[in-house]
Amino acid sequence: MEYVLETKDINKHFYKPKDFHVLKDISFAVRVGEFASIMGKSGSGKSTLLYILSTMDTEYTGELYLNHELVTGRHHNELSRMRNKHIGFVFQFHYLLSEFTVLENVMLPAKKLNEKSHTAIERDAMQKLEMLKIDYLAHQRASRISGGEKQRVAIARALINNPVILMGDEPTGNLDSHNADNVFHIFKKLKEEEGLSLLIVTHDEDFAKRTDRIIQMEDGRIIS
Ligand SMILES: Nc1ncnc2c1ncn2[C@@H]1O[C@H](COP(=O)(O)OP(=O)(O)O)[C@@H](O)[C@H]1O
Ligand SMILES: [Mg+2]
Repeated sequence: MEYVLETKDINKHFYKPKDFHVLKDISFAVRVGEFASIMGKSGSGKSTLLYILSTMDTEYTGELYLNHELVTGRHHNELSRMRNKHIGFVFQFHYLLSEFTVLENVMLPAKKLNEKSHTAIERDAMQKLEMLKIDYLAHQRASRISGGEKQRVAIARALINNPVILMGDEPTGNLDSHNADNVFHIFKKLKEEEGLSLLIVTHDEDFAKRTDRIIQMEDGRIIS
């Protein structure tokens, strides 16, 4: 089986204010091209898990593999580079730089990766904006566009380095149903047309039901 992401027995504790076993024996995998969702009550550990999977949190035991490569234990600088190159991330809030244009926001992670010329990055960014049907917003300031448009810009930004997996922590949590549906269809299209793998935390049952698989969390465990 071809996996894009795999975990083996991940456990995590928070030690403050007191010892709390937040993730318990998390072993699961996401297949290449799979669109998986994670559901579970508030406080069940979803965000904590995504934070580890996206390599931002390294305080855990167990193993994390990306593209069959062991990620756990690598140096901070290397993790930062792997994250920028291989993982796209979309949050509930878009975190765009409001004084920058839409195009500049989308270009930023590619500028940081520093593998391509400015012209090539600009061309890639325009292509992502076209794919998400918001190329007409390219030269607008990010502060001037609507909430639904901002989330699409955030998706374009997450895709700029052609990640192998797109992760999202409640990416539709702050959107009305029309815009949430729009985001679902963008994700579905990315899976179907680009073969992208997706792992999306959601509260929205309608959203989750339409993904390939629902991973259910309860009290720090995956229960199905
Ligand atoms: N930095 C932290 N220190 C201590 N406890 C935390 C910290 N972050 C989260 N928690 C606790 O861990 C549990 C899981 O949180 P979280 O992963 O955010 O859940 P979810 O995203 O499923 O709502 C919650 O009980 C939360 O209060
Ligand atoms: Mg959360």
